[in-house]
Amino acid sequence: MTIILGLESSCDETAAALVTAEGKILAHRLAMQEEAHRPYGGVVPEIAARAHVEALSPLIEAALEDANLTLDQVDVIAATAGPGLIGGVMVGLVTGKALAHAANKPLVAVNHLEGHALSPRLADPSLQFPYLLLLVSGGHCQLLHVRGPGNYARLATTIDDASGEAFDKTAKLLGVGYPGGPAVEQAAAKGNAKAVPLPRPLVGTAEPHFSFAGLKSAVMRAAQSGKYSTEDIAASFQQAVIDCLIDRTERQLAAHQGMTALVVAGGVAANQSIRAALQALAARHDLPFVAPPLWLCTDNAAMIAWAGAERYAAGLIDDLTVPARPRWPL
Ligand code: KG4
Ligand code: ZN
Repeated sequence: MTIILGLESSCDETAAALVTAEGKILAHRLAMQEEAHRPYGGVVPEIAARAHVEALSPLIEAALEDANLTLDQVDVIAATAGPGLIGGVMVGLVTGKALAHAANKPLVAVNHLEGHALSPRLADPSLQFPYLLLLVSGGHCQLLHVRGPGNYARLATTIDDASGEAFDKTAKLLGVGYPGGPAVEQAAAKGNAKAVPLPRPLVGTAEPHFSFAGLKSAVMRAAQSGKYSTEDIAASFQQAVIDCLIDRTERQLAAHQGMTALVVAGGVAANQSIRAALQALAARHDLPFVAPPLWLCTDNAAMIAWAGAERYAAGLIDDLTVPARPRWPL
């Protein structure tokens, strides 16, 4: 049995997890930094990096204890090497390097996006390559043709804001709380999605990309007009995002035959209305719809350990000179 220790520290979650090469999750531990960042309404890189330093080692020990394992019994160390906030990425990667060196284990430097991209296969082992992945997180909004570990084609990306960023900025504008995505979703549940006329940037156009900046400005004007309730703006905003995501995703489904499934991953995939709309889209195209459970959608270390497992199985290991990369496209 091959056991992989995964470490994640690229944003505001510190996490350690142990999974097997067969996809069994032996332990997963996570520390959120929400409280530390709440006063600022967003993640403060310096605060995040310091918090990772404090949290990571105890989380690794706790995960090993949960799984009743010692470091010697771990076969592979996988750590996020980017993209993300460089201070945090360095904490996890350097910790991973130190463990790999001390215990004489192979190191796999994982692209955080690959962690999200492969996480659906941890959740559903029957999911086969290639699949169409909508990756929607705080920093990204992409459509990827996932062909295998290390083998991706980016079909579309955002030309301005990421979808999660749009949720976070809307939450700040509406004053509904932090973190933004879940707060907007909650407010939206009590509102009317047709109440506020908002744009659907790039919908129906021939180019494949996403855009959310214009939507954000329109939300700001709606909020400032004083004509609408917070709940109605939240619901209308969420519906506009859904319409953009569905239109762009459908375009790629129509253009690419042979995909085994429509898959969604990343923090925004925790949104129930977005999941429901994607599920309906997949059904219209006679495709299975795969979405990881909510805890696997937002940042965690099990997905990093799993990406490490897939890369290791494909012979993709790294040496101890591998750099931390704040920007690192898949
Ligand atoms: O993947 P993730 O945990 O971290 C990144 O790698 O970015 O994604 C975080 C993003 C945040 O922008 C957050 O507001 C958004 O995912 N998010 C949501 C929901 N839960 C988290 N967006 C919409 N609805 C949600 N329920
Ligand atoms: Zn993420």
